[in-house]
Parts: sequence; C-alpha cells; structure tokens
Amino acid sequence: MQEFEGRTAVVTGGASGIGLGMCRAFASRGMNLVIADLDEEAMTAALEEFEQKGVRAIADKCDVSDYDQVRALADRAVAEYGGVHVLCNNAGVGIPTSARKMKMADWKWIIDVDLWGPIYGVDVFLPIIEEQGEGHVNTTSSLAGLISSQMMGAYNVAKHGVVALMAALERELRAKKSPVTASVLCPGPINTNISRHSVAYRPGQAKPRADGESSGKLARNIQDMLEQEGMDPDEVGELVANSIAEDKFWILTHPGYAKVVQKQLTALVEDQSLTRA
Ligand SMILES: NC(=O)c1ccc[n+]([C@@H]2O[C@H](COP(=O)([O-])OP(=O)(O)OC[C@H]3O[C@@H](n4cnc5c(N)ncnc54)[C@H](O)[C@@H]3O)[C@@H](O)[C@H]2O)c1
Repeated sequence: MQEFEGRTAVVTGGASGIGLGMCRAFASRGMNLVIADLDEEAMTAALEEFEQKGVRAIADKCDVSDYDQVRALADRAVAEYGGVHVLCNNAGVGIPTSARKMKMADWKWIIDVDLWGPIYGVDVFLPIIEEQGEGHVNTTSSLAGLISSQMMGAYNVAKHGVVALMAALERELRAKKSPVTASVLCPGPINTNISRHSVAYRPGQAKPRADGESSGKLARNIQDMLEQEGMDPDEVGELVANSIAEDKFWILTHPGYAKVVQKQLTALVEDQSLTRA
C-alpha cells in the first residue's frame, strides 16, 4: 500500500482543475508537492494556497510536450526533495474537432501534450521513483480513452494511447514484482476550465467555421455542460489518492459509463455495426 506522509508528488497540469484537486488531496495526506504547469498565474495562486496551509510546495513552468523541460522538472524535484514517489501525468488539452477535418497542427499539438507528455513523464520519472523502492505512476486518460465518440478525433487517439501505455506499464511492473504501481484515471465530465484553456492554448487559436462545426462553438457548449453537470475536481483528487492507496489500476469517476464500453465490446464480439452499439 502506497504511503503518502513525507513523500513527494509531482503533478503536471497541477495548477488547475483535476490536477489541483490531486495536489489538495496529496497535501492533506502530508505529501510535498511539485506543481508543473504552463499557467504561471494559476501556479502562483496554488502556491499561496499551499503556503497558507503550511504545505511544502514548489511550482515549475514546464511544457509536458517538451522532453528537455520534463527532464528539467525532474532535476528540480530531486534537487528540492531528494526524490519523487508519486507522478501524476495529468496535464491535458482537448478541442472537439472532426477526425475528417482536423488540422494537422491540432493533431500534433493534442498528441504531443496528451500522449507524448505522459510518455516523457514515464521515461524520465520511473527510474527516479524506482530508486525510492516504492511509488506510483498515475496518468489521466478519459472516457475518451475507452470509447471513441465522434468529433473528438485526436483526443480519442491520445487518450486510448494513454490507457495502453499505463496498462502495459502496470503489467510489466507486476511481472517483475516491482514495488512501484501504476494506474489510469478515466474521468467523465468534471467541472474544470479545460475547454476554455484548450481554446486559449490551441496553436493559431480557434476560428469559427461556416458549417457550424466550429470548435469554438462546440468547445463553449462542452464548457457549459461541464460547469452545469461536471463533478467537483476536488472530489476527483480524493478519489485518485484513495485509489492509489488501495492499489487500484482503473480509476473511474463515473463507473456507470463502463456499460457504454461494454456495449462496444459486445458489438465487437457479436460482429455488429459500431453505430448500432
Ligand atoms: N474536465 C473533464 O471533464 C475531463 C474529462 C476527462 C479527462 N480530463 C483530463 O483531465 C486532465 C486535466 O484536465 P482538467 O479538466 O483539470 O483541465 P484544466 O484545464 O483545468 O487543467 C489542465 C491544466 O493543464 C495545463 N496544461 C495544458 N497544456 C499543458 C502543457 N503543454 N504542459 C503543462 N501543462 C499544461 C493547463 O494550464 C491547466 O492548468 C486532462 O488530461 C484532461 O484531458 C478532463
């Protein structure tokens, strides 16, 4: 069972939403924090919050899609705390865009952040965590990592890749009886600013399209839905910390949605069309 007290957690995308919820959950269990994000203003606010609570925390401006910056993040964490025990590869972006019409720049950006980010995280941090003789690697995927809905082309591809990465990693760690464990978080709708942030970070910015499939309009609709129906990200942070403590691999915020995945698998087994499932 993973212990938290006095250990160090690195959380990417840790200044906002789910990542900040994880930081709060880890801090309340006595962990030191390394908050990695692109948003300096949000990192400053998070640091102030943790300072007031007497939590040891540092913030590092790190673009997870840049290997050298992830390496520098690890160097800084080790210099500050002497090691890392828990890594949460959580930073992510997503815009609703057709798989048919998506711009190559959007494919590249989303896969760089959402898939290469976690791959770099595992490559850089796993050896450091293994050195501690204990620890955990968690990556945030999505329901979009379990089932591919329309209009989320690159996001589906990246998040399926994340599930595959973490499942392969966990199997390998168990096969070699490693003291390190791994898990994947597949959230349903969570009340965060992901759509707003993603539109802002998108290369070249969003431009409305004449056919009404504009990512700007859809992104706004998704943002409204998340605000009205999404789960509180602090609740997700608690769920992740509890699941890590209990050695769970699959972390689902809305387990009822697993039925939709089951339906797709049934269609596969029974050789039915995808869209009837
Ligand atoms: N909100 C949801 O409904 C939902 C559902 C499923 C999965 N997710 C996933 O949860 C994770 C967290 O998202 P969130 O909903 O908390 O959104 P959020 O926008 O509140 O938080 C994401 C954070 O990642 C940071 N970020 C973006 N690009 C980055 C980069 N290249 N390098 C470093 N940091 C970067 C942002 O600045 C932001 O602080 C993402 O991986 C997202 O795909 C969210």
